[in-house]
Amino acid sequence: MITVSLTVNGRTYRADCEPRRTLADFLRHDLGFTGVHVGCEHGVCGSCTITLDGESARSCCLLAVQVDGAEIVTVEGLAENGELHPLQESFRKHHGLQCGFCTSGMLATAVELLKENPDPTDAEIRQGISGNLCRCTGYQFIVDAIRDAAKRP
Ligand code: FES
Ligand code: FES
Repeated sequence: MITVSLTVNGRTYRADCEPRRTLADFLRHDLGFTGVHVGCEHGVCGSCTITLDGESARSCCLLAVQVDGAEIVTVEGLAENGELHPLQESFRKHHGLQCGFCTSGMLATAVELLKENPDPTDAEIRQGISGNLCRCTGYQFIVDAIRDAAKRP
């Protein structure tokens, strides 16, 4: 076992894990951040996407030991002071989710997308979320939600 220390949503955690433990499993099962969803487990679906040191990353493709000392934001860390993040609010308003399985990864991707491009076109939004699969929504409502969130203060 190896001790891994991470800052998750502003709080520092230390826990022991096997060297082969993925970051997704470490966050979800060892630290209890069940908003980290695991689908394909090999980097294809995007459902496990989190923010790692300011950039989106697929937590199923990393080992927890690789990111010792990193700062991570999961979907549990997006809301502040009881207020939904503007993207969460916009997903709610535009019905950008159905089953919700893709949503935490979609939000992490969208956070980075709007940070890099605060006024994206629909084509740029579609390109930006092209690595995140959603089997429910048909994507249009997600695009609507991200476009609307870009206009929010
Ligand atoms: S579970 Fe990580 S990309 Fe699918
Ligand atoms: S809302 Fe179900 S997979 Fe996207």
